[in-house]
Amino acid sequence: MRRRFYIQTMGCQMNVHDSEFLSQCLIQGGYVPAERPEDADVVLANTCVVRAKPEQKAYSFLGRASALKAPDPSKFIGIVGCLAQMKGELLLKRFPLLDLIMGPRELSRFPEVVKQMDRPHGKTVATRLELAPPCHAPDHTCFHNKATGYISVMEGCNNFCTYCIVPYVRGREISRDPDQIMAEAIRLIALGIKEITLLGQNVNSYVWEAPGRQRLSFSGLLQQVSQLKGLLRLRFVTSHPKDLSDELISCFAAIENLCPHIHLPFQAGSNRILRLMGRGYTREDYLHLVQKLRKVRPDIAITSDVMVGFPGETDQDFQDTLDLIRQVRFDSLFSFKYSDRKGTAADQMGNKIDELTKGSRLHALQDLQKRITLEKNKELEGRKTVVLVEGKSKRGNQSTGRTASHKVVNFPGISWEIGALVKVLIEKGFLNSLQGKPIGSLSPVKENLRSIEMK
Ligand code: 5AD
Ligand code: SF4
Repeated sequence: MRRRFYIQTMGCQMNVHDSEFLSQCLIQGGYVPAERPEDADVVLANTCVVRAKPEQKAYSFLGRASALKAPDPSKFIGIVGCLAQMKGELLLKRFPLLDLIMGPRELSRFPEVVKQMDRPHGKTVATRLELAPPCHAPDHTCFHNKATGYISVMEGCNNFCTYCIVPYVRGREISRDPDQIMAEAIRLIALGIKEITLLGQNVNSYVWEAPGRQRLSFSGLLQQVSQLKGLLRLRFVTSHPKDLSDELISCFAAIENLCPHIHLPFQAGSNRILRLMGRGYTREDYLHLVQKLRKVRPDIAITSDVMVGFPGETDQDFQDTLDLIRQVRFDSLFSFKYSDRKGTAADQMGNKIDELTKGSRLHALQDLQKRITLEKNKELEGRKTVVLVEGKSKRGNQSTGRTASHKVVNFPGISWEIGALVKVLIEKGFLNSLQGKPIGSLSPVKENLRSIEMK
């Protein structure tokens, strides 16, 4: 019987993308995916340490994986991602059965590991941070029958926001050679991918400078990729407000296939807290960016990340956060309780907020945002939009996909091909999705994609 693998992915889109690469290496090595870790010969955890919760989740998964290996030494268990990077060899003390500990920048060595998985081997510990991307440029053979794909364009972060562990586990910012990015985009499109998301921890600080070549900014890169034939939609994530240039904002007007959606974390609405976080902008700066974005692209969806209970956050600071949410009216928000991360500057700050207060602030914030999200989704009822079909919905006889503004739409009928553009009339707006009715398919060659959006 063929050997099977299971990968548990935690954390951000970077990790989702890395897990796709890991799967692909395993499939190329003759492995097949398993539904559950219990059924797998190779069990991997791709981990996140951005807050205490995902870190705990990783430990409990590793406990489970170790228990599976204990009676069956032929199993291979490994940890990759940010926890692997942060703890390295130390993990062997708690999980001595681990065969592999590999940080995100070392993944290019994963194919070598796959070759030795079913032979007697020692343990692999690989956590060098100084390696430059592309540590792993996948050739994407497992992307058949998918509508959307990611390309990593830069890695790491130089910002050192005082709460954040990312610069310590993902290293300094390094941008990838645009020629490699273009080659990867062409390969994806050739495999049928219709929508590409350019990925980076701090994607808008992408820059390529090489001797004898013109400097390429992130806007320049977007222009280049957007012109590829067959690419219906282009996105990017995640942007930092302090690096959101006017040039980049103007791309939302100038680039036809650039989707009207931006994920722009604001983290807090109080200037005092923003300063303590070291974010490099004020609430007024943030509101001004939102205004500029909406001016060039009135239908742009804006989503964000925010946290409550940063050390020293007063009730007034929290009210400032709620007030910013009311002013912007985000399409949706990821919201978190501040979580101490060892080695960061905020960990050393006084005036920590108790868990109860954090909990009630988070609750109030999420209530407010739910109201706004629902109102915004209801406003779309009766409008026409274009959906890129991603597959069948979990509920029977329905297809599912996303609008250009990144909202999930379900609609009846399962005969649509993955990657088709379907015109849909929105009948109902819910909290997490829209329900629609197909009113025809679209030929992107003949029709102007933008003019049909949300009329
Ligand atoms: N505590 C809570 N949330 C955090 N984030 C990053 N670091 C922390 C932390 N120490 C959140 C931020 C970031 C998102 C990915 O995770 O909102 O944008
Ligand atoms: Fe988590 Fe950050 Fe690592 Fe992504 S980069 S997995 S958010 S710690």
